[in-house]
Amino acid sequence: MSDLTLIYEGKAKTLYQGPASDEIFIYFKDDTTAFNGEKKEIITQKGEINFQISRLIFKYLEKNGVKTHYLKPVDERTILAKKLDIIPVEFVIRNIAAGSVLKRIPVKQGFEFKSPIIEYFYKSDEMGDPMINPYHIEACNLCSMENLMTITEKTFRVNHLLKSLFDKCGIILVDFKLEFGIDSQNNIMLGDEISPDSCRLWDKVTKEVLDKDVFRKGNGNIVDKYKKVLERLQEELNDKSQSLC
Ligand SMILES: Nc1ncnc2c1ncn2[C@@H]1O[C@H](COP(=O)(O)OP(=O)(O)O)[C@@H](O)[C@H]1O
Ligand SMILES: [Mg+2]
Repeated sequence: MSDLTLIYEGKAKTLYQGPASDEIFIYFKDDTTAFNGEKKEIITQKGEINFQISRLIFKYLEKNGVKTHYLKPVDERTILAKKLDIIPVEFVIRNIAAGSVLKRIPVKQGFEFKSPIIEYFYKSDEMGDPMINPYHIEACNLCSMENLMTITEKTFRVNHLLKSLFDKCGIILVDFKLEFGIDSQNNIMLGDEISPDSCRLWDKVTKEVLDKDVFRKGNGNIVDKYKKVLERLQEELNDKSQSLC
């Protein structure tokens, strides 16, 4: 990747200019961060596993009619994707109460919401990704109300699809974060990654935590947990093409 033009180095991925002007290479790093970058570690293999999980999930979503930036794999930790103008909002769905939401509402960890909740966060490391609402989003020109409504609907649709996929894998989709952007033809597309870095995933039977909370809380090796997620997705989606495990 060294001869490529660097576009952006993030906390978990690096973006390089792709072969066409509206394409990018997304390289999945082993860097693992939590608490807005305060906790940091390099965890061997994490990038490869997240690349594989993301690739499988994006392919599954595309198959089910969700437009995503995913084009094709390039090597064992890089995808080629459509370059998007990313909307600086994180779209979070919560099916079960866990994490920061416990500080905002009177429910206990593990509470099953009657219906999924969507939350919006302003994507800003400096400001610590504060929670915002649709009025902030429209008033500050982060995204038009029309696009926001379209993306909200898409986010619920992704939740429906992913909940059912993970359920078949014996995994509860507790919550997750999505990012969307606009491509060169003005289409709204799902971007970024979907992996145990951006989702909370619990084993259905044992309630074993299989996501980044293991790293946040210093509860063991995330690679073993992420591999379990990958193996189950590969089995469910019949994909053994690049088995790591
Ligand atoms: N298709 C895309 N086009 C342009 N930017 C993207 C695309 N997909 C994801 N991004 C952006 O690339 C960055 C990915 O790297 P990451 O390490 O997650 O960064 P960050 O530290 O900002 O979260 C994110 O800022 C994300 O918004
Ligand atoms: Mg990120």
